[in-house]
Order: sequence, then structure tokens, then C-alpha cells
Amino acid sequence: MNGKTLLITGGMGFIGSNFIHYWLAHHPEDRIVNLDALTYAGNPDNTANATQLPNYRFVQGDIADMQGVQLIFQEESIDVVVHFAAESHVDRSITDPQLFVRTNVLGTQCLLEEARRQGVSKFVHVSTDEVYGTLGKEGLFTEATPIAPNSPYSASKAGSDLLARAYYETYTLPVVITRCSNNYGPYQFPEKLIPTIITRALQNQPIPVYGNGLNIRDWLYVEDHCSAIECVIQSGTPGHVYNIGGGNERTNLEIVRTILAELGKPETLIQFVADRLGHDLRYAIDAGKLQNELGWRPRYKLEQGLKLTVGWYLEHEDWWRKLMPQTASNETSDAAADEGDAL
Ligand SMILES: NC(=O)c1ccc[n+]([C@@H]2O[C@H](COP(=O)([O-])OP(=O)(O)OC[C@H]3O[C@@H](n4cnc5c(N)ncnc54)[C@H](O)[C@@H]3O)[C@@H](O)[C@H]2O)c1
Repeated sequence: MNGKTLLITGGMGFIGSNFIHYWLAHHPEDRIVNLDALTYAGNPDNTANATQLPNYRFVQGDIADMQGVQLIFQEESIDVVVHFAAESHVDRSITDPQLFVRTNVLGTQCLLEEARRQGVSKFVHVSTDEVYGTLGKEGLFTEATPIAPNSPYSASKAGSDLLARAYYETYTLPVVITRCSNNYGPYQFPEKLIPTIITRALQNQPIPVYGNGLNIRDWLYVEDHCSAIECVIQSGTPGHVYNIGGGNERTNLEIVRTILAELGKPETLIQFVADRLGHDLRYAIDAGKLQNELGWRPRYKLEQGLKLTVGWYLEHEDWWRKLMPQTASNETSDAAADEGDAL
């Protein structure tokens, strides 16, 4: 095989599994090695279609286990690392910040270190717009916006971004950092905003919305995130940061109402609950650098992506029903909207 070998971390999670499907469809000559610890968020069902392929390998392992990471680099000739693995839920970071530091900061350092020792042609560090903190009513996050994370989750991601940057500056490891806005689409764990709304509405359960529901997020269909990462792998400049976003700002309440209308469910299901601690008001991304320098364009408008997503959850009831017992309580499914949030 003449293709490249990509190490995908966190490939059993939401975005990682979508990325694996995307990459195998667009680059069948390449080999994928998927390293995932299978935490509560990692689901082998997400990549079931890939398991029989000769150019796909799954390794169950922890990114913070240096020896395990070294073994993979010894066994495989890795060309590109795409690093998705993380603890990703803001609410969980508020109750257990240390786990987030371990996985997101120490785990990232392990991967950077081994990639440096072995040499790779690119290391894509998948980060988040949440590292920029919160916006007021006006303005957009650019790559020059100072980092000002507000939750233990975003602080741990910011820490990993700084390590990634340092590995470029100190060792010239060809690191590229991406900072994406809120994603939605197939295979998203039902603790996050959009799947929470869909799965609860389908079960005629109340949909808890934090505060007044007016927090604003900038939504991107997950396939568009995958194509942006593809662009960055192919043409991103080492040492650079690229923001990724679709310019789809909506309040959480607007998202809930759109989905309820799509499903033909009543707005009486909406239940306002006490706001999350340190809840960021607004995120909005300026993705001009990625568009102007690398030519990336999002393909899906929000309404179109939401229709596809609702359709996917309707067709994959078996997939999400299996995950229900872990998210059945109101405690873990209150609704905000970040990779962090439920609604
Ligand atoms: N979801 C979003 O809206 C969003 C937006 C921007 C950026 N991001 C970033 O994208 C990445 C993926 O997000 P997601 O929503 O797919 O997350 P996810 O929680 O759905 O998936 C995370 C995956 O990482 C794995 N994992 C966790 N700890 C691990 C460890 N120690 N070793 C190996 N694997 C481990 C889990 O098993 C899971 O499969 C994260 O880095 C996140 O910060 C997410």
C-alpha cells in the first residue's frame, strides 16, 4: 500500500469516529490506527463498519500511558497524528477536574513526545474555541484572541494547546492546532445538547435548559469539521492555529425549538433549570484564515445539518437506546450546549 498511516486518537468518540469514516471514504489507500481508551464516551459501535477493513486497526489504550504509546509507534510507521482523544464534557470537568488534566494535558504531552522522538510529517492537535473563554454580544474569536478558559475542561484543553505550541517552537515538531466551534451530527453521545434534545423529545421526556436558554453557540456539522481537518493535514502550516466554524450562531433555546418543530413535539417539554457554574455566554468563530489561506468551505447550513442529524437518530434508535442508562438521570443531562454541554 502506498498511502500514509494516520494515528487517530479518540477514534471511538463522536468526532474521531466521524473522522475515521470520512477519511476511509476519501482516502482508501491510507491506513488508520485508532487509539482509544474506551471511556464511557468511547463506543466500538461507532466504527463497527471499519473493523473488517485491512487498512484499519483498533488499539485499546490510554494516551497517558507512555509505554503503550511508544509500542504503537514502534509497531506502526506513523506519518500523521490526528489527536482527538480527550475528556470532553464541561459538566464532568466541574465535578472531576483532575481527570481532565491527566487526559487532556498529560496525555497530549505523551503523544507529542513520542511523535517528536519518532518523527511525523504532521501532528494535528484538535482543540476547541472554548479555550478563548466567552464573548459578549459582539465580536468573533480569531486566532489572535488571547486564551482565557473559564472551565476546568477548557483550561485543560488550553494547557494542551500550549504544550503543542511549545513542541513546535522547541523541537520543530510539525504541529498544527485547530480550534473548532460546537459540533453536532451522527454518533454524538447523548449527554451533549443536540442528542439530548432529540432523544428526550423522542421519549416525551422534559428537556432541561440551563438558565434562560439564551447562551449562544456557533454550530458546525461534524462532517464539515472532518473536511476542515483534512484541509489542515494537507496544507496547514506547521506552528499555526486554525479556527474552524460555520457561522451558525444560535441560542440554545432556538436549537431546542427547531428540533422540537422538526420532530413535531410540543414546546411544553422545555424545562428551565438552574444555570451551570461559570456558563460562558457566547462563542462565535472567525474561520477566515482557514477559508482564505487553505480554501476550506463548510458544506452544510445549520437547518440542513439538523435535519440530517434528527434523521440519523430516528434511524439509529438501537445505537442511542443502549447508551440511555448512563444518562437517564437529570443530573447529567441538564442542558447547556458545548462539547461540554448538554443543552
Ligand atoms: N464535540 C465538540 O463540539 C467539539 C468541538 C471542538 C473541539 N472538540 C474536541 O474534539 C475532540 C473530540 O471531541 P468529541 O466530542 O468527539 O469527544 P468524545 O468525548 O465524544 O470522545 C472522546 C474519545 O476519547 C477517548 N478517550 C478519552 N480519554 C482517553 C485516554 N486517556 N486515552 C485514549 N482515549 C481516550 C474516549 O474513549 C472517546 O472515544 C476533543 O479533543 C474535543 O476537545 C470537540
